[in-house]
Parts: sequence; C-alpha cells; structure tokens
Amino acid sequence: MLGFLVIVLLLLLLPTILLALSSSGSSHSRRHGAPSAPPGNTGWPLIGETIAFLKPHPSTSIGDFLVQRVSRFGNVFTSNLFGQPTVVSADAQLNRFILQNESKAFGPGWPRSLIKVLGRYTILDLAGDDHRYMRSIVVNFLSSARLQTVFLKGVERAATATLGSWKGNGVVSATEEARKFTFALIAKAILSMETNNADTEKLEREFETFSKGLTSLPLNFPGTAHWNSLKARSNILNVIRQKREERINKLRDGRIDVEDDLLTWTLENSNYTEEQTGDFLLGFLFGGHDTSAKSIALAIYFLDGCPKALKQMQEEHHAIVERKKEKEKSGLGWEDYKQLEFTHCVFYESLRLGNIAKYVQRKAVKDFQYEEHIIPQGFSVMAAFWAVHMDPSLFEDPRQFNPWRWKGPSGIKKSNNFMAFGGGSRLCPGAELAKLEFVVFFHHLIMNYRWELVEPDHPFSRPHVDFAKGLHIKIHTLENQVEKVGRLL
Ligand code: HEM
Repeated sequence: MLGFLVIVLLLLLLPTILLALSSSGSSHSRRHGAPSAPPGNTGWPLIGETIAFLKPHPSTSIGDFLVQRVSRFGNVFTSNLFGQPTVVSADAQLNRFILQNESKAFGPGWPRSLIKVLGRYTILDLAGDDHRYMRSIVVNFLSSARLQTVFLKGVERAATATLGSWKGNGVVSATEEARKFTFALIAKAILSMETNNADTEKLEREFETFSKGLTSLPLNFPGTAHWNSLKARSNILNVIRQKREERINKLRDGRIDVEDDLLTWTLENSNYTEEQTGDFLLGFLFGGHDTSAKSIALAIYFLDGCPKALKQMQEEHHAIVERKKEKEKSGLGWEDYKQLEFTHCVFYESLRLGNIAKYVQRKAVKDFQYEEHIIPQGFSVMAAFWAVHMDPSLFEDPRQFNPWRWKGPSGIKKSNNFMAFGGGSRLCPGAELAKLEFVVFFHHLIMNYRWELVEPDHPFSRPHVDFAKGLHIKIHTLENQVEKVGRLL
C-alpha cells in the first residue's frame, strides 16, 4: 500500500521534478562559465528549501528561514524555492532595483504552481504591452475620480452593512468580518453581486478555498490545498462565465440598466476572450479582497496593544463628526476622509509591521551584477519586503507598533523603504482603494462600537498572513452612537 502511494506521489510530482531538474541543469552548466550566483543552500532534491521557507512565523518578525541564512550568507543569498533556483534579497536597495527594472532585467517570476491556479492570463504573469494594456483597465477603473464618488459610496454601504449586522455585546471573528466587508465591496465592484445573497456567499466560500491553495505546496491530488484551489478556481470561473454571457446579451440589446462594474468595463474596453476575462477578474479579486481585509484585522490587533493610538484615532473621528454636526452635514465625504490623517498613519504602520504582501518574485532575463553578486539569467529573484520592514537600521525599533513614525514631512511619502505595495510598473493599483476601505471601516467601527480581544492571538505568516485563533473580539455597542450604522444603507 505504502509503495503504491509513493508511486502515485512520484507521478503527481513528475511535472515539479522535471521542472526542478531542468532548472538545476541550467544553474549547473553556468558553473563552467564565469557568473555564479550568491552563496546559499539548494536544500533537498526537488523541494529545495520550500518547506523551511513555508514554516509559519509571527508576521511581525523576520522568521528563522531568513535569520539563519542572512547570518550565514549575508543579505543576498541563493536558495531553491517552489522548484526554482532563487536569489533572495533582504537588501532594501536591491529590492528597489528589482521593482524598478521590470522588463530591462526582470520578467514575471511567480512560481508556475501559482500561475496555474491564477490562470495564464493573470495580470501577475503578463509582460510588456499585454501587461500595460490590462493594467490600464484597472488603473482607469480605480481612478481617483471614481474613488471619490462610486467607491466612497460603495465602501460606506459595505462597511455599514457589515457593522450593522453585528448584534450588540456579542463576539465576532475580526478576520471573518473584515473579509465579509471587503468581499461585499469587491463582489459588487467586479460583478455587481449584492450582499446577503446566497450566490455571493457561495462565491465567497469558493474564493476562500481558492486563496488557501495559492501559496501551498503544488501537490495536485485530492484533499490537498492546491487541488482544492484548482477546483474552486473552476467554480468561480463558471460564475464569471455565466455573468459574462448575461452581460453581453444586455449590451447587445442596448439595455440602459447595464451595471457599472469591472465586467462591463472589460467588455467595453477590451476584446478579451472568455478565458482572458475570467483570469483578469479572478486576479483582481485575488489582489483586492483578502489583502484589504488583513489590513483591517491587523490594525484591530495592533490597536488592542496600543491604547494611546486607539485613543488618538477615536478623537480624530469624533472631531470630524462634531465638525460635520456644526455644519449640519452627515456621512463621510472625501474631504473628511483626507483629514483623517492619523488613521492613514495607522494603516501604513499596520502594513509595515503585519507584512501582508511579504515579497514579490521576478525572473532574471539576463545576467546582471549587483555589488559583488551576479544574478544569473533564468534565476527567480525574490524581493523580501518583510526583511526591509523589520530592519532596525531602516525603522527604529521595528517590532514596535508606532503609527506616529508616518506623521509629518518625514513620514510615508519620504520613505522609500516602505514596500507593502511593491513598486515600479507593477505598483499596486488598488493601494488608494485599500486605504479608503480601511479608513471608512474604522470610522464606522469607532463611532458605533468599543471592542476588546477575547483571548490572546497573533498574526502568523504562512506566508499569507493569518491569525492563529481567528482574532475573536467582544464588541460593545456605544450607547450614544453618533453616526449610527445602518443609517446610510
Ligand atoms: C492592503 C492591501 C493591499 C496590499 C498590501 C497589496 C499589495 C500588492 C503588491 C505588493 C502588489 C505587487 C505585486 C507584484 O509586483 O508582482 C500588488 C499588485 C496588484 N494589486 Fe494590490 N494590494 C492591496 C490591495 C489591492 C486592492 C484593493 C486591489 C484592487 C481592488 C489590488 C489590486 C492589485 C492588482 C490588480 C495588482 C497587479 C498590478 C500589476 O501587475 O500591474 N490590490 N498589490
């Protein structure tokens, strides 16, 4: 029985084996020529050092994998991750170089296993004109003008719907609730799907399964996270396919009730096929849902440990509401949003310390030299953002939650060591929307509830960020709610 299982496992791993062999072949032949990669370990055959890399560690720390290798080999070292020889950079300057030199020195380099789940037309794997074209649709869809109008309203609606559903003085999982909120927003923005609807809830569950397999080991047999993820992908694509057909018919009939969502934008601004549209929308969902939810959950956690910051945030939000009362206005307008400066600092600090997007990967398209290192063509390159965010020479007392570090002229705008949104031609186009979601959610949370952690918890990097116990909070409805949730619905 055991022998049979081993054979099945080997057969299933065959593609990975071949990939790993072809990769190691190219690195070996290189040793005859001049260039050689930075020092490091290649680890076990096939899996390299992937298991050590995936070992969970608090997301507010560097973790054993990096600590051990940096102390042995320095800030730039070679490893073998996800079946690819990989140069890992824990060096801020090299990370910036990687981000800024897309196409000149690097191409897309996310592991094949991830691209298999996201689809071959995912924005993360497109290069050159194809990438620029798809990106332009996203950037226009998330333009500043639309953020101030369509999205501000949509975010308020989703925030008040989520928070309005809380029953006073109960216990909720902050990670689940944040996810519900961002999913409601993104499902509406992409496919005009409404909250509290069985189809939307089913899609949300499928998406959760899909996300879990994205960074898991690429073991493709029943029961594994990768296998489940591929199945969930196919179910989500079915929903998109059906919505696309309905929308094409509506547009063809010249109906005036055509929804203003990303699906319509894509149909009107591109001639993408069904497959391209599916991969595009799925990639947008992937980029824009869980990341924003994690920023909110992390801040709830960090604020629990920093009452001074929470108090300052509460004062800031109460002051805005008082000012509006004097002017007899209600609701959170764009100008109010911009004035909530300390909350913006809490957002940046939660991203720095929580390390949601831990790293990005590229592939070297040619040999290039960085200081004394040569990064060989064909190698994968990992820009480790978390190493920079936790570097005491760049951020004073880096393990401390300190939103005040982002205040004033020396704050975020001046820091090129803040890498949570990547950079260069792939800089996250959803960064402003994520901040808007964060600020509006906290506005309604603070004006309506007080909360405390039910039990000690901690964010872990797996490498996606997750709370060990789901971050359960006890909520208390404020007696004198100033801006009652539900009123804006
Ligand atoms: C706190 C929340 C977020 C974080 C930390 C984050 C982080 C990132 C990072 C690091 C990248 C660069 C990936 C790379 O270089 O390969 C990226 C790209 C991207 N993000 Fe975000 N993101 C967030 C929110 C959002 C939101 C709300 C959306 C959309 C609604 C979004 C959509 C995208 C897209 C489409 C890309 C691909 C851009 C390209 O390849 O040109 N993200 N994000």
